[in-house]
Amino acid sequence: MRSLCVRVRKGEGESVRKKLLEDGLLDQSLYVDKDQEHLYLPVLASPDGLPTEERDFQEREREERDYKALAKVPEELRPLLPTAFDTLGDIAIIRLSDQLLPYAAEVGDALRSAFPRLRSVFLDHGVVGEFRVLDLEVISGQDVSETVHTEYGLRFKVDPRKAYFNPRLSNERRRIASLVRDGETVVDMFSGVGPFAIMIAKLSRPGVVYAIDLNPGAVQLMRENVELNRVAGVVPLEGDARQWVFDLPCADRVIMNLPHSAIDFFADALTRLKL
Ligand SMILES: C[S@@+](CC[C@H](N)C(=O)[O-])C[C@H]1O[C@@H](n2cnc3c(N)ncnc32)[C@H](O)[C@@H]1O
Repeated sequence: MRSLCVRVRKGEGESVRKKLLEDGLLDQSLYVDKDQEHLYLPVLASPDGLPTEERDFQEREREERDYKALAKVPEELRPLLPTAFDTLGDIAIIRLSDQLLPYAAEVGDALRSAFPRLRSVFLDHGVVGEFRVLDLEVISGQDVSETVHTEYGLRFKVDPRKAYFNPRLSNERRRIASLVRDGETVVDMFSGVGPFAIMIAKLSRPGVVYAIDLNPGAVQLMRENVELNRVAGVVPLEGDARQWVFDLPCADRVIMNLPHSAIDFFADALTRLKL
């Protein structure tokens, strides 16, 4: 399969591979390739400061990554094992059908055997409250839901029990960040732990990004994430976005990532846009 990759001299290969892995940029579904002098490390996106090129890579055998074969569940339930689950840093979050619930621990253990970098596996009992946090039950490993998640080289301290974070939005965050022009004022009305705001500050050159959230736990994590990524120009604000927007300067862009009810805030947000 054709992929973007980083070419490194063999002696430097391991340190670069580790760094790409830590930054969430190494494409682990492909085998690393090599020739006499170089290693070719397949990547999901271009890393800062490293030139990339394209090359063909061999895909890893599906079985190698397939936890389903390892799960100690009755054969008739095996087809019900989920194919997809979310990973946040070193934890996995999975949903199971009712028939599989008695075997939740076995499913969690199988996932950790197939993916040794997973510290814990949690069963997802759904989103709760206006903060949209997850009701999680540990089914394998430590009952600690705080972790550091990496996307496109940025590191986010997250705790899905305390604050919303969706790893599936990484491409959308990058797309939105790429639209922001130099010096713009951006307001992120429902910023959670800050991924949109921090991605914008890191990838573009906004004047300022005001990042509001009602959840004090989310704002605390956002402050830590601003530090962790050493970004300037992100201003975390705790409170109700509907009130905050009227205390802020008018913005070039307003981000409203609040499924189902963002529309209720739309009229207020519109009055704050520069026209
Ligand atoms: C779907 S999450 C979005 C988080 C973030 N944009 C992301 O991509 O991870 C919605 C967030 O809106 C926050 N929220 C809900 N009502 C709010 C309000 N009235 N004012 C500010 N934040 C609010 C919740 O605490 C939650 O963190």
